[in-house]
Amino acid sequence: MSIIKKIITFRPSFTVRILTGIISMLVMLSVCTYVAISDQTALNRRDTNFRARAIEVGAKVYAEQCARCHGLNGEGIEGLGPSLAAESFVGRRTLREEADGRVTYQQVMPSKRIQDIGWVGTLESYIIAVTEAGIPIRTSNVWDVNHPPFLDRHGGPLRPDQIRDVTAFIVNWSLNPLPDDQAVLPPKPGEGLAPRPTPVPLTEAQERGKQVYLQAGCMACHAIRGVGNQGAIGPSLNKIYTVAQERIASDDYKKNIKDQPPATTPEEYILQSIIYPNAYIVPQCPQGPCPAGVMPANYKDTITPEDLERLVDYLTTLR
Ligand code: HEC
Ligand code: HEC
Repeated sequence: MSIIKKIITFRPSFTVRILTGIISMLVMLSVCTYVAISDQTALNRRDTNFRARAIEVGAKVYAEQCARCHGLNGEGIEGLGPSLAAESFVGRRTLREEADGRVTYQQVMPSKRIQDIGWVGTLESYIIAVTEAGIPIRTSNVWDVNHPPFLDRHGGPLRPDQIRDVTAFIVNWSLNPLPDDQAVLPPKPGEGLAPRPTPVPLTEAQERGKQVYLQAGCMACHAIRGVGNQGAIGPSLNKIYTVAQERIASDDYKKNIKDQPPATTPEEYILQSIIYPNAYIVPQCPQGPCPAGVMPANYKDTITPEDLERLVDYLTTLR
């Protein structure tokens, strides 16, 4: 009993009390620091989570700023922008979890594109450079547009951290890159500068058909290189004649055409697509699977039969 009483009534001097306080604080501080430093694993996990969040934010930036020219899945859009998800662009990487808990990229195949153009930095630095400052000249006449600058300092809409995040998102495609034959690839440096074949002059009727295309507002959703706005809701019509030939030969068309007899010529297919847009829904649009019921279904009533004929005649020149 007496020892407890002694502890309760113990009154050390003021200095001793301050010293004990300081010492116990120092002990506690060093314990905390030790725990924090030795728990490298948690620190590295945080690093990995940070990257995952950057990719997530980057996906949003990509959808808002890049998809309209590079395709929603990075497949590229003819005339508007090359694929950023193709294997030849991002290369191929796998993920490996290190002993310390960090998840790192392991390069299996490097980017062929940055080798082709002789970029000496990393793929990341190339993406950042192009995105920040744009490409003020057209490197090839396969593109109808110049690359806009995106950095806010250059008058663009993005902060440096958003550009870093969208870069992380693009580089992450290297885990599962798009096969090159499913992507719109850029021409090799120096190629694609040759003039395009001189277009065969349009006949009067075809010229009129082109005006119908412009006046009916088709370019709100479709793109024809150099003609009107480059819409990206419906498929590009750059080579619609060739595409029409492929469609009518495809199993998908034969199986899924409904309420209308299957077209047997490209001309029939093009006319059918315009006046009965829901008879057959094209599988792939620039922003993913084609939506049904989006293309107006009343052109049969709003465009005269003669103009429809001229419109189809014009579209058959796109091969
Ligand atoms: C207005 C259309 C357009 C938009 C929007 C656009 N790009 Fe591009 N992009 C292009 C074109 C065209 C090229 C090819 C330019 C050239 O080589 O002359 C290109 C090329 C690139 C390249 C180089 C690809 C290669 O194979 O060398 C990168 C990287 C790139 N864009 C990133 C982006 C990112 C990231 C965004 C969104 C923040 C974006 N782009 C938005 C049109 C666009
Ligand atoms: C509001 C958007 C929109 C407008 C406007 C529009 N289209 Fe479409 N078009 C689409 C969509 C989406 C598809 C793909 C879905 C489908 O097959 O119906 C399509 C498909 C097509 C196809 C088939 C393409 C292929 O690859 O097989 C042709 C041809 C076509 N449209 C021509 C036209 C013409 C010509 C006009 C103007 C008279 C026009 N479209 C107006 C959205 C539109």
